[in-house]
Amino acid sequence: MSDPHDLFEAAKAAMAKAYAPHSNFPVGAALRSAGGAIYSGCNVENASYPEGWCAETSAIAQMVGAGERAIIEVAVVAEKMACIPPCGGCRQRIREFGTAETRIHLCNASGVVETVTLGALLPRAYGPEGR
Ligand code: THU
Repeated sequence: MSDPHDLFEAAKAAMAKAYAPHSNFPVGAALRSAGGAIYSGCNVENASYPEGWCAETSAIAQMVGAGERAIIEVAVVAEKMACIPPCGGCRQRIREFGTAETRIHLCNASGVVETVTLGALLPRAYGPEGR
């Protein structure tokens, strides 16, 4: 199992790019794909609040746009929270490209605080067929 610190660093760097003028709650996420690459993203808010989206969603879009479709692990960081779990919608989005075993690293500003499985965060998930 690879050390998730590189994933944390990528998530933190993405958080620095967050566009969060409405919540003032910058978030960064990074994921490792099955191909071994790291894709990262930040939250992107909007004056029409529901039109904004999460950091995890940005990272997933980067991965899919690069032609990959399998998530091995994810790191999430928010400077204003000691340990940030992905929101419910993002758990479902991660599930689309992951499995119950996909590791989710919950981070603070210094590194990974806790690692949980997606299955623990999203039990009895409605997932893509066969996964
Ligand atoms: N947010 C994320 O980017 N990821 C999460 O898992 C939780 C929430 C963002 C959405 C919004 O821009 C801000 O945090 C406040 O909710």
